[in-house]
Amino acid sequence: MPVPFVTSSVTLSVSSSAKSSAMPAFHRRARSRPAFAAVLVAALAFGTTALAQSPGYSYTPDVGQAGKDVVWVPTPQPVVDKMLELANITPKDTVLDLGSGDGRTVITAAKRGVKAHGVEYNPDMAALARANAEKEGVSKMATFQTADLFEIDLSQATVITMFLLPTINERLRPKLLELPAGTRVVSNSFPMGDWKPDRSETVSQGCSNYCTALMWVVPAKAAGTWQMDGQRLTLKQSFQNLEGTLGSNAISDAKLEGKKIAFTANGVRYEGMVDGNAMKGTAAGGKTWSARKS
Ligand SMILES: C[S@@+](CC[C@H](N)C(=O)[O-])C[C@H]1O[C@@H](n2cnc3c(N)ncnc32)[C@H](O)[C@@H]1O
Repeated sequence: MPVPFVTSSVTLSVSSSAKSSAMPAFHRRARSRPAFAAVLVAALAFGTTALAQSPGYSYTPDVGQAGKDVVWVPTPQPVVDKMLELANITPKDTVLDLGSGDGRTVITAAKRGVKAHGVEYNPDMAALARANAEKEGVSKMATFQTADLFEIDLSQATVITMFLLPTINERLRPKLLELPAGTRVVSNSFPMGDWKPDRSETVSQGCSNYCTALMWVVPAKAAGTWQMDGQRLTLKQSFQNLEGTLGSNAISDAKLEGKKIAFTANGVRYEGMVDGNAMKGTAAGGKTWSARKS
């Protein structure tokens, strides 16, 4: 049963002394990679411990400590900033950070006036994140719950952020693709299998490892046969990519970005919005068009 998107508590004690059987692949792989030492150095250099150690709260996490499915390695602040920039967050959004660590992504969003929530399995980390939010004066906008990220309800988020693992991203992918079209998903460095990002950017200033922000927009479901102003539009969809025909002409440059759809047929560019079983928009030259799924 999904845990609701509100504070709940799971009584567990995962910490740096967690048993090795609880250590995820990322933990073992990360430690065996030469780059990992550099990540630790870089993370520490970016004041990781400064945010992690909040006055009034004594828990001090170690970079690389075990977590349930992923170790704790904090996202460097310039990458947090880039992730939120790529997602183009506004006060209308609700940000959800999956595996929120010391709370930096949630707190950064809250400081920009955006409601943000973190889900963290380690109760000590969640408590630390709350203390950090308090210290930064954003505890009303930045909330945290102790829970397993696989068990929570994602449906209230308009932006989901994560720094997990490729395998975990792929496990989450079916759930992410069922979220409302237009929901943005942003990952630090790790991909989402063959669902290619809509945008990505690498931060070169102030970051030496895990510096790439990747952003996906959950696409509308457009596959099927549509009746479009007296012609049959047939669409095949793979994530945000489309192919198909309009009448007897193949469409080209066809793409979805959330609810936005665009394609070219017979030399004409069509742009519009998908809304369930209906679509409408404007063709090049200004003529309006509409379609219904049949
Ligand atoms: C790589 S750290 C990223 C922390 C933070 N999001 C950031 O970018 O700085 C991953 C975090 O996920 C947490 N975590 C691991 N498995 C989890 C699970 N199944 N549910 C919730 N949190 C989890 C870890 O404790 C750790 O704090």
